[in-house]
Amino acid sequence: MQVRSVPLAGSAAKRPQGSDTGLCARRAEIGHNTRVMESLRVENLTKDYPMGERVVRALDGISLEVVPGEFLGVVGRSGSGKSTLLNLLAGLDRPSSGSLWVGERDLARMSPEQLAHHRQHTVGIVFQFFHLIPTLTALQNVELPMAFSGLGPGKRVEKARSLLENVGLSQRLDHVPSQLSGGEQQRVSIARSLANDPQFLLADEPTGNLDSATAGEIQEIFKRLHLEGRTVICVTHEQDLWKESLDRVIELRDGRLFREERLGRSEGGGNGIPDGED
Ligand SMILES: Nc1ncnc2c1ncn2[C@@H]1O[C@H](COP(=O)(O)OP(=O)(O)OP(=O)(O)O)[C@@H](O)[C@H]1O
Ligand SMILES: [Mg+2]
Repeated sequence: MQVRSVPLAGSAAKRPQGSDTGLCARRAEIGHNTRVMESLRVENLTKDYPMGERVVRALDGISLEVVPGEFLGVVGRSGSGKSTLLNLLAGLDRPSSGSLWVGERDLARMSPEQLAHHRQHTVGIVFQFFHLIPTLTALQNVELPMAFSGLGPGKRVEKARSLLENVGLSQRLDHVPSQLSGGEQQRVSIARSLANDPQFLLADEPTGNLDSATAGEIQEIFKRLHLEGRTVICVTHEQDLWKESLDRVIELRDGRLFREERLGRSEGGGNGIPDGED
């Protein structure tokens, strides 16, 4: 395997304290909430899919650290393992071997209940094809993940409305997905991903199904959400569209980390969030 690292401006910045131990954490102020932001560490991760007699190795020994507040792009040819990696980070699937540390918690060793909690509260996920529930309105789609959050029904509606307003959809609350454009559906899915205030926003080609003007608008929303203090990991085929936002790009090839490039912003993200106590 060849890993080519291309250091650009800012790459000599100090590593955040504690990043070697997985204890690195910052705090971000978002609205009235203070969120602890943890590092994410992937160690020698593999994922095999059994296919009858054969095994497809989709990930082949990936090691990676994402620091709190970073905006990471993941690129690579079709079949290189990008979605597989994102799904493992999201807790939608389990690795075949290796570790996935979020702060001090290893996703690979979590119980099903702990993994469900990770999906509901730690990460927000945005997909290329939106994955909205077709029979529910925009408001109901955003409200749904809050069902087990402990918020009462009135507060849930209030929060869903505010999240949709925040992505410019206050005039479309009662529309079902078939009554929304692609860009509007993606805005609903972004609002839904934020329902439980996740510290990580994971996106799998979120602009892959949109025209270029709409894709630009969606990219701007992600940029703002990052600047508000979230760690963002975005799989994309459109590096040119995303590069002004990204702190770093990694390229996967045949399930391996092939190339890494820093994009000239300070390490750990350009959102200006001060380091917090570990
Ligand atoms: N459920 C599965 N069973 C068997 N093989 C799979 C499965 N999911 C993915 N693969 C294989 O694993 C490899 C990586 O797939 P993955 O979906 O992660 O690629 P990708 O980089 O996201 O591609 P694309 O850019 O086309 O979305 C591919 O060779 C794919 O065929
Ligand atoms: Mg994919």
